[in-house]
Amino acid sequence: MSSGASLAVHDITSGYGTVQVLDGVSLTADPGTITAVLGANGAGKTTLLRTIGGFLRPSRGRVLLDGTDVAHRRPEDIARSGVAHVPEGQGVITELTVAENLRLGAMLRPRAGRAAALDETYQRFGALAERRNLAAGSLSGGERQMLVIARALLAAPRVLLLDEPSLGLAPKIVASVMDLVRRLRDEVGLTIVLVEQNARSALSIADQGVVLNLGRVVARDQASVLAADEALRRHYLGF
Ligand SMILES: Nc1ncnc2c1ncn2[C@@H]1O[C@H](COP(=O)(O)OP(=O)(O)O)[C@@H](O)[C@H]1O
Ligand SMILES: [Mg+2]
Repeated sequence: MSSGASLAVHDITSGYGTVQVLDGVSLTADPGTITAVLGANGAGKTTLLRTIGGFLRPSRGRVLLDGTDVAHRRPEDIARSGVAHVPEGQGVITELTVAENLRLGAMLRPRAGRAAALDETYQRFGALAERRNLAAGSLSGGERQMLVIARALLAAPRVLLLDEPSLGLAPKIVASVMDLVRRLRDEVGLTIVLVEQNARSALSIADQGVVLNLGRVVARDQASVLAADEALRRHYLGF
C-alpha cells in the first residue's frame, strides 16, 4: 500500500530573478518510489527542489501532484497539498527541545491527530524519544538530520523532498540516514525525491535517478543502470 502521491515535473525553467538556472528539466516519480537527483555542486539540484516546493516560481513548465498543477501555488499551499520540503543543512531550532521542534512539525495537522502522530514518531525514532527533553542544539549532526526528517513527516506528507541529507555526516551515519529514507518508502509508501552529491549512497537505495549538469538533465534511468555506467560516474557522479 502506498500513501505517496505521483509527482511529475514537466519542462521546468526556473531560477533567481534574471538568472536562469534550470532549463527544461523534467522528471516523473511514481507513488512510493525514491528518485535520486544527482549532479555536481551548482548543477541546480536545490533550485529544482525549491521550485517543486513553491519557493521559486518557474518561468515555464508544470509541477503535477497526482495530476494537478501546483507550480504557481504558494509554498504553504503546496505543503498543505502534501509536499514536505527538508532543506539543506539540518536546520533545527537549536534553543528548543527535541519535543518542541517536533510539536511545531505537528502543527500542520488537525489538532485531534497530533498526540498520536507524536507517539508514532517516538516509536519510529527511538533516539529522538530518548532525547526529547534535550535542546535540539545538543544533538549530533545525524540526530539533527533525523529530527528534521521526523518533523517533516509529522505534516503527514505524500511527497518528501530531501536536500542533501547526508551532507557533513560520517559514513556510518550516512548509511543510517539512507536506511531511514528507504524505510520511509518501504514502510510508509512515501514518494521521495532525494537530492544528493553522494551519488553512490543515493543510488544504493533509489529506484531511479536523474543527473543534472548546468541546469539540464544529462541522464535519467533506473538507479542500478546509472550506478553501473562508468563514464557517467566519472563525468558527473564522482565515484
Ligand atoms: N539565490 C541565488 N541567486 C542567484 N543564483 C543562485 C542562487 N542560489 C543558487 N544560485 C545559482 O544557481 C546555480 C545552481 O545552484 P543550486 O541549485 O544551489 O545547485 P546545487 O544544489 O546543485 O548545488 C548555481 O550556479 C548557483 O550559483
Ligand atoms: Mg544544493
